Amino acid sequence: MNHLRIFARNSLRRRDFSLRSTSRSFCNLSPESNRSSYGIAFDIDGVILLGSSPVGGSPGALRRLYDDSGALKIPFLFLTNGGGLPESKRASEMSQLLGVHVSPSQVVQGHSPFRKLVNRFGNELVVAAGKGEPASVMSNYGFKNVISLDEYSSYFDNIDPLAPYKKWMTGQDGHKETRSRTNILSDRVQAAFIVSDPVDWSRDIQVLCDILRTGGLPGKEIGPQPHLYFANDDLDYQTAFPTERLGMGAFRIALESIFNRIHDELLEYTSFGKPNPFVFKNAEDVLKEIAASTRTHSNQGSNHFRTLYMIGDNPKIDIRGARQAGNPWFSILTRTGVFKGKDNHAEFPADLVVDTVEEAVDFILTRESAKQSLL
Ligand code: G3P
Ligand code: MG
Repeated sequence: MNHLRIFARNSLRRRDFSLRSTSRSFCNLSPESNRSSYGIAFDIDGVILLGSSPVGGSPGALRRLYDDSGALKIPFLFLTNGGGLPESKRASEMSQLLGVHVSPSQVVQGHSPFRKLVNRFGNELVVAAGKGEPASVMSNYGFKNVISLDEYSSYFDNIDPLAPYKKWMTGQDGHKETRSRTNILSDRVQAAFIVSDPVDWSRDIQVLCDILRTGGLPGKEIGPQPHLYFANDDLDYQTAFPTERLGMGAFRIALESIFNRIHDELLEYTSFGKPNPFVFKNAEDVLKEIAASTRTHSNQGSNHFRTLYMIGDNPKIDIRGARQAGNPWFSILTRTGVFKGKDNHAEFPADLVVDTVEEAVDFILTRESAKQSLL
């Protein structure tokens, strides 16, 4: 039995005793309080995938959460700061890459909470920036007048003096709509959403500064800053390259530094994504819905989780978020992504450190089945 399973049993043994003594002293405990119910939140980049390649035995680890018929047995979801595709498309992509069925409700991305801003901006002209299909992401949430920064920029002649030198430019955003140039040039942009990692930083910083300095009308006079939202504030993250890559948080620092040098007022913005506590609260609510809809053995009828496992690779984002969220979150740090240390992270130590997500799932299933056998 590998060291993890021993740890799992030992850690449980200590708890076994307390659990047994508790059940002995309160033998009439209600069934709910005896039921072990748990859910799992998986970070994606650096835990499940490196770029688009599975890592750490992730396909096999995830398959253990389904029964022989392929139905979901253990409620889990992906809790990623990444994004750029509608949740339905990302779910199909994950299903393809991992060989298991992932439903859209199991994909919570950095920009997923943007859907809550539809009431405020649903009918306003808003721009959506970042790789993939940012405008499709937003229109899927119900935003009726959203335009990608790619398309928006294309209506302004000479807005990007470097454009002629960008031989790589293609019409990336599938969300092409024919709009009247007059309307675009005269409608104020009411909000800018950085949905996913920006591709062309020079153009995006230039055009966002134009929008944010002029009350949403590039090329016109200075005006009140429109709202600015970021899907996450990750300084860096792990992909297939051996060392971390700059994330959306690095882009935000670049935009903010430049904006604050050229404008009289400081840039105002809101960043979503892990480690914000509301992201973990939302993940718990989504896991409850998933558990209810799959009526899994791990959550028969009880509407609360005894344990929620967060498996992440970035101590400052994933582990910090789970620690701040507190009970019932249990944080597990893998060594396949940003964190590569031997021991634990000094500033944001996880409850458990493992090499791979496969080990993490093995630990969880061992620990939870031991709990189950005590009830
Ligand atoms: O753009 C992705 C990056 O910000 C981190 O993604 O899956 O590690 O939260 P993830
Ligand atoms: Mg990660």
